[in-house]
Order: sequence, then structure tokens, then C-alpha cells
Amino acid sequence: METTTSTTRTYRHFFIVALLCLSAGVWIGHLGLWSYLLPEHLKDILPFRMLRAMHVTLVVAWIFAAAIGGVYHYIQKETQGNYKPILLKIHLWGYVLLGGIILLSYFLNRYGGREYWAFPPPLAIGIAVLWLLFAWNTFKAAWNYKQEKCLLEWPLYLWMWATGILFFLYTFTEVYLWTLPFFGKTVLRDITVQWKAYGSLVGSWNMMVYGTALYLATRPEAFRSYACSKTAYALYLIGLANLIMGWAHHIYPVPTYQWIKTLAYFISMTELIVLGKLLWDWYRFPPRFQGPSPYRYYLIGGDIWVFLNLLLAIAISIPAVNLYAHGTHLVVAHSMGTTIGINTHILLASLFYISEPLLSEHQRRRSITFFYLFNIGLIIFWLGLIVAGFHESPLIGNPTTPHIKYLPQSNQWMWVVLIASIPIAIAITGITTILIKRLLNAVS
Ligand code: HEM
Repeated sequence: METTTSTTRTYRHFFIVALLCLSAGVWIGHLGLWSYLLPEHLKDILPFRMLRAMHVTLVVAWIFAAAIGGVYHYIQKETQGNYKPILLKIHLWGYVLLGGIILLSYFLNRYGGREYWAFPPPLAIGIAVLWLLFAWNTFKAAWNYKQEKCLLEWPLYLWMWATGILFFLYTFTEVYLWTLPFFGKTVLRDITVQWKAYGSLVGSWNMMVYGTALYLATRPEAFRSYACSKTAYALYLIGLANLIMGWAHHIYPVPTYQWIKTLAYFISMTELIVLGKLLWDWYRFPPRFQGPSPYRYYLIGGDIWVFLNLLLAIAISIPAVNLYAHGTHLVVAHSMGTTIGINTHILLASLFYISEPLLSEHQRRRSITFFYLFNIGLIIFWLGLIVAGFHESPLIGNPTTPHIKYLPQSNQWMWVVLIASIPIAIAITGITTILIKRLLNAVS
């Protein structure tokens, strides 16, 4: 086992916090579905609003903590740059403290924010300060690093992490523009900015997660040079264009400038190139689940879910379809499909990659069994949300009736979603237990 320095111990604490958030998040999500389907029985003891807010906070905290810990760890490995241990500790414990305050505020029925950040807005200042600290630590470590034969000196995953870190700061500020009267007091401006900001905010954390995927995919010696290749940089530019402009399909229903919508449509359709490239790569190197190496399974799982979610994303970016999808569970299928299917698979792959030397043979095999259980549940869960979304959409019902009226028809599908969430929650609990045990042994 490698010697655990103070900094590696802190990354591992980030991973443990992330895994605890994930397992608590899935069970709270499961309770949320009961509350959604049986509001008359559960609204007083388990209010949907509180469970939804706690669920989203915990799963987003999982994505961030696992991505942050991984970025710290891989940057140090790659660049040999050092961090100040005390700054890492402040980041970690600040994160835990802030998360605890946010959950407590929901428990005490204190909201005030919006969407993924439903907590009282002043707490956002804490998030921004911790993010600045993260940016300072990582940029300082990587600033002078150069890799020979790399087109732009850094391998692409470093560019992707850097882009994600900087764009998060920008989009997170944008998400809070509604607190200024100039934006918040004009409905049209408010909606346009809000829907736009959320589209790019998610893009910023995706950059960090996809950078991690690239790092992992280029670990076998034979693939190392790919992270410095022209093809990789070209795909990054498509990703960047989507991060900057891809949000615009979020505002199709808003009466804003037509050129923004047209440009957004063309940019979101560039994802077809990514889809084509993925299929071409599969044709040349078919994904193979070889040997008892969990990290490869989870990485291939992420790849398959990129394919499935791209199909859905491209479909709902077509303006005519987009109009019918808004406000339905089709959009939830899109957001949960990507956060569970893509982000969670990649981040679990990253944690399995880091823990690989610590896992016993038995734990590897169990992690692979949980992989299958997780994916069987997830495919039914995701399809259930899509069918429920269709039933809620005016496409199937009377187009003049508001979406909400279609919920009873969709509910039978939401029961399917609820049943499918059981194997997901069991698999996640199994996976997180294995990883936490290994990481705890490693830090003790
Ligand atoms: C047992 C598994 C899960 C269940 C039962 C579940 C349930 C739910 C429910 C009931 C909602 C609210 C949907 C609505 O407003 O109508 C929701 C939203 C959400 N969930 Fe999950 N969830 C699960 C796992 C996850 C995981 C693992 C992630 C990500 C890592 C995730 C990410 C999200 C996101 C991002 C939203 C917000 C969707 C939006 O506003 O568009 N969920 N989930």
C-alpha cells in the first residue's frame, strides 16, 4: 500500500464524503418518489419539496466531491506539483460544514433559492469562496507544467479541468443574477437568464467529469498520446462550443431573439459529430468487459450511457419536440440519465481506479455484480421516466390542457420508476460500502 501523506489522506476523505452523499442521496430520492406518488398520506411527514431538495443537494455534492478529489489527486500525480495540506483541509471541512448547514436549512423549511440551489442564497457565498480556494490550489500546482509533444503543452484533460473550474465560477455567478432587481424583477429577463445559466452550469461540471474520463481512458500506455492528439482537441472544441452556447435549447419556449435559437440549434446538433465518433470508435475498438477490473466496467458503462443520453438530448433539442418536452419527466430523464448514467459511472470508475490496488478479488467480483444490478435498474428507471414524460406532454393529450393535468396517466409509469429505483439503491449501497471500507483502511 502506498504511504499516505497528509494530502492523499485529504483526497481520500473527499472520496469518502462523496460516497456517503451518494448513498444517502439515492435512498432519499427513493423516499421522494413515495412522497410524490402518495402525497395525501406522506405530505406531512415526508414532504416532497424537502426530500427533492435534499436529494438533489446530496447527489450534486457527490458529483462535486468525487470530481474535486479526483482532480486534486490526478493533477498532483501528473504534474508532481504540491499543495499546501492546510488549504486542502480547509476546503474539505468547509465543504462538509456548508453541506451540513444546507441540509439543516431544508429540514427547518428554510429555502429561498432556486432549482439545484434551493437553500437560502447567502450560503452561495460560501460555495464560491471554497471554489476560489480549489481554483487557487489546482492552478498553482499545474501552472508551470509542460508536457513535451503536446500541442498546447498540457494534455487535454488538464485543459478540461481548467475550463470546468473557471466556467463554474462564471456560471455560478450567473445563476444568482436573479437576486439583482435588474434581472429578478423582469419575468422574461429572469427566465431567460436562469434557464441559460443552468444549462451552462451543468456544462461546467461535465467538463471536469469528462476530463476525468479522458484521464482514465488514456492510462493504458498504448493510448497515452491520445490526450495530446488533434482529434481530442477538436472534440474538446465541440464540447466548449456546447458549453458556451449549447444552453440555448433551454430557452426555446422563451420569446427571445431568433438568431440565438437558430445558432443554439446548430450547435446542439454538432453533438451528432460526437455521436458519430463514438460509434466509429466502437466499430474499431468494440467495448469489452475484460477481466475482474471494476474500473473498466464502470468506464464502459459511462460510454454506453453517453450514447443513450446523446440520443435523448439530440431529440429534445429539436425545437418542435422541445416544446412538448418542457416541464415533463422527459427532462428529468435527461438530467437524471446524464447525472446517474454518465457522471456517476465515470466517477465510480475513477474511485475504483484509485482503489484498485486495495481491493480483494472477492470485492472486485462483487463490484462487477453490483455494476449489472445498477444498470438493469437504471435502464428501466430511465425508460419509465421517458414514457411518463410522454404521457404528461400535450403531444399525447389535449394540447390546450396544462401539463400538470396529465400526471395521473403518467403515475403508473412513475410506479415502474419507483420499483426500478430499488435495485439502483441496493447496488449503490453495495458499491459505496466496498469503496468506503477500502478507503477507510487506507487512511487509518
Ligand atoms: C434510487 C435512485 C434515485 C431515485 C429514486 C431518484 C428520485 C428522484 C426524484 C423523485 C426526483 C424529483 C423529480 C421531479 O421533480 O419530478 C429526482 C430529481 C433529480 N435526481 Fe434523482 N433519484 C435517484 C438517483 C439519482 C442519482 C444517483 C442522481 C445523480 C447522481 C440523481 C440526480 C437527480 C437530479 C439532477 C435531479 C433533478 C432533476 C431535474 O430537476 O431535472 N438522482 N430524483
